[in-house]
Amino acid sequence: MELKICFLPGDGIGPEIMEQAGTVLEAVAEKFGHTLTASSARIGGVAIDADGVPLPQETIDACKAADAVLLGAVGGPKWDEIDPAIRPERGLLAIRKEMGLFANLRPAQLFPQLKHACFLRPDLVENGLDVMVIRELTGGIYFGEPKGIEEKDGEKMGYNTMVYYEHEVERIARVAFEAARKRDKRLCSVDKANVLDVSRLWREVVIRTHADYPDVELTHMYVDNAAMQLVRNPSQFDVIVTGNLFGDILSDEAGCITGSIGMLPSASLGTDGPGLYEPIHGSAPDIAGQDKANPLATILSVAMMLRHSFNLTAEAEAIEAAVSKVLDQGYRTGDIREEGCELIGCQKMGQLVVEAI
Ligand code: IPM
Ligand code: MG
Repeated sequence: MELKICFLPGDGIGPEIMEQAGTVLEAVAEKFGHTLTASSARIGGVAIDADGVPLPQETIDACKAADAVLLGAVGGPKWDEIDPAIRPERGLLAIRKEMGLFANLRPAQLFPQLKHACFLRPDLVENGLDVMVIRELTGGIYFGEPKGIEEKDGEKMGYNTMVYYEHEVERIARVAFEAARKRDKRLCSVDKANVLDVSRLWREVVIRTHADYPDVELTHMYVDNAAMQLVRNPSQFDVIVTGNLFGDILSDEAGCITGSIGMLPSASLGTDGPGLYEPIHGSAPDIAGQDKANPLATILSVAMMLRHSFNLTAEAEAIEAAVSKVLDQGYRTGDIREEGCELIGCQKMGQLVVEAI
């Protein structure tokens, strides 16, 4: 099979983790007899420096021409003072919108080898930690109009609008019900329906859509309570579905309680067309270029890509097994370092995963 992949390394540690993910992808392709056709393009700060905008048209075209896109990370202190309309993060939001990637899958899993890294009391994660956060990614307050900063009554006033159409809620709910079906068949929809009108509609549409998935158990939770329950009793959750802003916050929380944000992949999918895969961590400018970054989140994002965009389950499992093996062998990057384990860099980690494949 031909795998047409567009690589978007981006900023900070992006290029180094991407290089390792690329070699892992090559190794899997070779082992299973696939042809890799790679392209690469600029996004974020590097694009601002070279093209004056965080998402050049060339990059959009290259992404749309590929079967799947792998992204590193965007942003850094260098672009902090820049005009907000062209900040590196804008590039990320724009590519999600351009490609129609409304469904963001963020699995938060505790690797058994990394139990010590979990921030929660051991008795709280006795039953493991395996939550899938499904975040709506192209709507809500991130994109709603009207928005802006205006002069009003002699002072400045800033505002954004949280908007959801029924069709937007229904399609993300369907993705979540389908995902729950393949897991433990429990879906928790998170909203703020006690305060927000937009959330009342959200809840109504999720309940209506549930009629097509009677085998999945549906519950509802207010977002403040969900934030608390995630640290109090995370194993009560199987799949969480929520809007863009709440999902941004809860997916960081779910990711970070596993103790290893450097281990967590994500997938952003649309109705059809290429999906985009990226680690959930950021560009980590403080360690960029020092061979200290953990490439495993990006490598595991490649596994998600093979599974979701190409239906290549055996190939995805080969990567996951290889990652597990390297952890079993006691190799760790700085973010997951542990007494008695060997501390290694980004390149070595990638190389070990390739060898394990
Ligand atoms: C994320 C990030 C982005 C978001 C930023 C960088 C625009 O926090 O992917 O979760 O808010 O969606
Ligand atoms: Mg975020």
